Amino acid sequence: MRLESITLSDFRNYKRSDIRFSGGRNLLLGKNGAGKSNLLEAVYVLSTSKSFRQAKDSKLVRWDTDGFMVRGVFSSTRGKYTVEVACGREGKKLFVNGTPEERVSNVIGYVYCVIFYFDDILLVKGPPASKRSFLDLVLSTTDPLYFDNLRRYLSVVRHKAKYLKDSTTVDRNLLLSLNEQLVQFGGYLVDKRSELVLFINRYIQEAAKKVYPGGPFLELKYHTNIAGEGKIAGGASTVDLFVHALERCGRQEIITAQCIAGPHRDDISFMDENHDVRHFGSIGEARLAAILLKLGQASFYTNSRGVVPILLMDDIMLELDMRNTERVIRLVDPQSQTLITTTEKSKLPEIFQYDSVFTIIDGRVN
Ligand SMILES: Nc1ncnc2c1ncn2[C@@H]1O[C@H](COP(=O)(O)OP(=O)(O)O)[C@@H](O)[C@H]1O
Ligand SMILES: [Mg+2]
Repeated sequence: MRLESITLSDFRNYKRSDIRFSGGRNLLLGKNGAGKSNLLEAVYVLSTSKSFRQAKDSKLVRWDTDGFMVRGVFSSTRGKYTVEVACGREGKKLFVNGTPEERVSNVIGYVYCVIFYFDDILLVKGPPASKRSFLDLVLSTTDPLYFDNLRRYLSVVRHKAKYLKDSTTVDRNLLLSLNEQLVQFGGYLVDKRSELVLFINRYIQEAAKKVYPGGPFLELKYHTNIAGEGKIAGGASTVDLFVHALERCGRQEIITAQCIAGPHRDDISFMDENHDVRHFGSIGEARLAAILLKLGQASFYTNSRGVVPILLMDDIMLELDMRNTERVIRLVDPQSQTLITTTEKSKLPEIFQYDSVFTIIDGRVN
């Protein structure tokens, strides 16, 4: 899919800007603080209604103004359409082709993009919660049933944790019924997360063959405490494993008043020749692993939804050496539209050919 043009009004440090992009590679050039990441953030808002920097909506509104508006004109297999997110005193609103949508969350499914940015390092070196959020985002944007099961599962976990904490004696039947719900909703999460990790791992293996034959061998692994490692892919069903895990942890859950067994404790890790990149990888190696994960996300969108997502690459070469930057550039699907930021052209390898270049100065684009 392609972002043809975008209009920003009172968004971050942009007063008013209309920008028309190329379908291929767009280079956004500017000094620190010029507004490069802000522009990528505006595109991202059109795909999820939120900032990728976990910023509250109020932070996106240009200082001393009352609200922002971002409108994008997109083209994809569904034709040409506009998506607009407007945020003012009465809250946030979404318009598709000028028509208001009932809920802002309806934005999911119109615009597929993948953001590459500084905090991606957390997907390798950060806590399990960051990794689960990544899996949840990818799966929720491609599968409404996943989103629904996730919501229900987390609600039961909260309910069960509160019950275990508040009760002096435990009603076994109530606990059993809560556990049944956990298995029903959570089993789906485990299956889908496991499939996604397998898909991305396969992507990474193929990518490695392409750009560094014989080079470091990276493997992405999924860890869920309902099963011993690797058991999910073959053998026992997820439901059986989950039921057994809940039985196994039952006593401990009552003693500690915590929900222990289940995908709310899942994790993923990158292994480099049996060493966990989280603990042993350099920042550059971890950055490369995170970028491969994001490229895998893009490939998953193409495979599961039939759309080539827009790639938003924010300063990706920051911690990569030139060879690794070149490898990443070579892995980018030539069909994808890319918006890539940098402070200087010389930071990009020569093999990077761009179709358009935009110079950004203080929230103005030339
Ligand atoms: N809500 C806002 N209103 C006005 N300016 C903002 C707002 N939020 C951030 N900025 C400004 O945007 C600039 C940062 O822009 P950013 O896109 O992150 O820079 P870079 O080009 O280095 O990626 C900072 O100078 C900051 O002061
Ligand atoms: Mg930036």
